[in-house]
Amino acid sequence: MTEPIPTADTVAVDLGPRRYEIRIGRGLIARAGQEIAPLLHRPRVAVLTEERVAALHLDRLRAGLAGIEMEALALPAGEATKGWPQFARAVDWLLERKVERSDLVIAFGGGVIGDLAGFAAAVLRRGVRFVQIPTTLLAQVDSSVGGKTGINSVHGKNLIGAFHQPSLVLADIDILATLPARDFLSGYGEVVKYGLIGDAAFFAWLETHGPALAAGDSAARQEAVRRSVAMKARIVERDETETGDRALLNLGHTFCHALEAATGYSDRLLHGEGVAIGCALAFELSQRLGLCSQEAPSRVRAHLRAMGLRCDLADIPGELPPAETLLALMAQDKKVVDGRLRFILARDIGAAFVAEDVPPAAVRDLLAAALARR
Ligand code: GLY
Repeated sequence: MTEPIPTADTVAVDLGPRRYEIRIGRGLIARAGQEIAPLLHRPRVAVLTEERVAALHLDRLRAGLAGIEMEALALPAGEATKGWPQFARAVDWLLERKVERSDLVIAFGGGVIGDLAGFAAAVLRRGVRFVQIPTTLLAQVDSSVGGKTGINSVHGKNLIGAFHQPSLVLADIDILATLPARDFLSGYGEVVKYGLIGDAAFFAWLETHGPALAAGDSAARQEAVRRSVAMKARIVERDETETGDRALLNLGHTFCHALEAATGYSDRLLHGEGVAIGCALAFELSQRLGLCSQEAPSRVRAHLRAMGLRCDLADIPGELPPAETLLALMAQDKKVVDGRLRFILARDIGAAFVAEDVPPAAVRDLLAAALARR
């Protein structure tokens, strides 16, 4: 007997005239046409995707868009795509296809494609609407929601971009089944982050349901994505352009960015793995600064470890630079304000806050201790 397909959940991001909905559920790609048709002025869409996703899923999207004409450009997979050359190629392709201001662009892929396609939509003819169809867990719970779009520069990641909210997000839970286990777990690092930021009950739920979710339980996956995007939606509604609370979403990211730079943005460390390690380090730093109990960082690490996720510098293969170099890499992070180290710290699980003036010596000592555990 086949499993009945549960109905999709809907989470709204209420930004007044830029309000949009995120639909989370199974079979959404198969009915993408029904979901998208109300947004169209003419039955035609331009899809930006990447080669691996196109090979696996583009035919299914074409079938799901039944009655809507679709053209697609598949860009190379990987972070290197998120730069000027492929961005220019995508924008020129959209112009060649005569995409007009009233048309719709679809971003069909992970975070790289979502960010690049969203930015292309932001600047094309001074702004066209776009729909995100994220194909990784990481993109479903984070990058497809909230309107941060952009590309990397030789000066750093995500330094060129625009806030441009999508008109709709379709998070199809079924597509997660084709993700390699390591990519899925990496996205799970961002899911855990939401519990740690502001929802202790969600973290406790993940401690119980995480293993089933990783093993493929669709209902658990749908619930985890729903709760993650609901929290992100509330934060983005409060602070769309990150002048305050939205910075909470960067829990673990200052450590993560330094570690990604130190490992050359290679597959030695995936982004979500860096976030997981960064979250554990942020809790350890909070404990060292007397802000939270010793139990909190232990519980964070225990859950990450139980899920098979990386949770310490010892889990990164190969050489790492000394603490002083890692600290210097953090100081280059674009979130540093006036040379002061800004971190997201926590008073407990589910109680994160923005700390403006973290003593560099405390961070250096923490990193030295973590490096000594290797
Ligand atoms: N990924 C962090 C944010 O959207 O603000």
